[in-house]
Amino acid sequence: MTVNISFSKAPHKDSDAAVLCFYEGSEPSAAVSSLNYEFHGYIDNVLEKNKSFTGKFGQVQILVLPEDSPYAYAILLGCGKKDELDNLRAEKLGGKLVASLDSSNIESLEFYNDNDLAQSGELAAHIAVGISLRSYSFEIYKSKKDDDEEEKKLSLVHFVAFDSDNADETYSEQSPAIEGVFLARDLVNEPPNELYPDAYAKRIKAQLKPLGVEIEILDEKKMKKIGMGALLAVGQGSDHAPRMVIMRWRGDKSCADAPLAFVGKGVTFDTGGISLKPGAGMEEMKMDMGGSAAVVGLMKSLARRRAKVNVVGVVGLVENMPSARAYRPADIVTSYSGKTIEVLNTDAEGRLVLADALSYVQDIYKPAMVIDLATLTGAMIIALGHEYCGTFVNNDDLWEQMEQAGRETDEKLWRMPLDEVWKKDMEGTISDTQNMSKSGRWAGACTAAGFLSHFIEKDMEWAHMDIAGTAWIKSDKDTTPKYGTGFGVRLLDRFVSKNYEQS
Ligand code: BES
Ligand code: MN
Ligand code: ZN
Repeated sequence: MTVNISFSKAPHKDSDAAVLCFYEGSEPSAAVSSLNYEFHGYIDNVLEKNKSFTGKFGQVQILVLPEDSPYAYAILLGCGKKDELDNLRAEKLGGKLVASLDSSNIESLEFYNDNDLAQSGELAAHIAVGISLRSYSFEIYKSKKDDDEEEKKLSLVHFVAFDSDNADETYSEQSPAIEGVFLARDLVNEPPNELYPDAYAKRIKAQLKPLGVEIEILDEKKMKKIGMGALLAVGQGSDHAPRMVIMRWRGDKSCADAPLAFVGKGVTFDTGGISLKPGAGMEEMKMDMGGSAAVVGLMKSLARRRAKVNVVGVVGLVENMPSARAYRPADIVTSYSGKTIEVLNTDAEGRLVLADALSYVQDIYKPAMVIDLATLTGAMIIALGHEYCGTFVNNDDLWEQMEQAGRETDEKLWRMPLDEVWKKDMEGTISDTQNMSKSGRWAGACTAAGFLSHFIEKDMEWAHMDIAGTAWIKSDKDTTPKYGTGFGVRLLDRFVSKNYEQS
């Protein structure tokens, strides 16, 4: 499932294919010239005949090499203009390369990096990151085929790089976050009959406890006792009882400062409940735990790189089902905070789950700041589609730090407005709050954030990421194969390391 990546100064010449970088408008590099010589001028010949290969960004040409060559194939990779290649573009390039190998049967690559470039080691590392991210696949529910029928997949990439030590180091810094992304994608891709709240909680423990993350699981009884009436209402129609999982990473035991808190919506399946969703497309609602998956992935990444920081992650895990026991529109429930909520639509369930999870983490941990992630509203997808994640932040510095981290990892954020008008809009008529806006469906992502703001304590730094459009995609992107994306894991890992870790 994952690609094994390595770096060294000298080639091994035992791979299926050699990858050669070409730059638009530049002479072929020394590496290319020497391989061309080794292949008896073959590459020059091909380029002479095929003028359409210009080294344009992402262009790929796979050549079959003559019998006596050290590789079966040469892959010409267009890297675009030399001075435009930065870390982000390098990652995309790695992704495009992997995509072009689909159904090629090539299992191993020797990648000749362009050593003429300054920072070539760092670029090689980022190409490797892109290769890794794009090579993810989710296949545990496919039955095994016979070996000769099995499609061959890329599994080994060796980089030849002048500063291979630097490349190796840069890649190693990135790989814990990649592992976190893969865990988040796995969780989102799991079917809801397998990943129901209790199974999910057990899986979190199995994944994170061995890495030194402290895990606490609250069951229904405990949540009843402490008054989580909002989260419990959402789960009460399901035969799978809800859970809340608290994950603590104490990477800086010497520091007594307040921890950072991350909260995730973990609705393992969202039918809408009694306010039932239409049938078409309902299967996609297995991804309604994407926020929680990102938090779990983040905790894995922090623990894998032994991050010097104290973080608490909280996920509310519930299944939203219609049944004779289900909560109904018009029910009034009491949340952990003590505020009452009138349920006007049982499909606006995520905000109820978050309300209790947010109140709990603020009450128990008094964090320095809290960021929540949730596939909260269809309105967010209408507003920003699948490219940008709408983010509501009550503090300008926090916003800048988050946006910058997202720029670096290519998880783009767009700031959305928090306004008193919408907070007010979510006040109840016969209760403290209500889970639907009084003004209808307009600005649905903003009114949802307005609801959440009722559960944020005074002066608490807070950001809410509505990842409804970014947690799940139905067509491939350069570094993200379709379905669960793991959106948020790399961004938040970067955000934490840049702003909150002492080095
Ligand atoms: N999980 C959905 C939001 C969603 C929709 C996520 C599509 C990803 C893709 C959420 O629980 C929901 O149903 N929201 C409602 C809120 C409405 C009833 C106020 C919505 O967006 O329609
Ligand atoms: Mn819903
Ligand atoms: Zn939902």
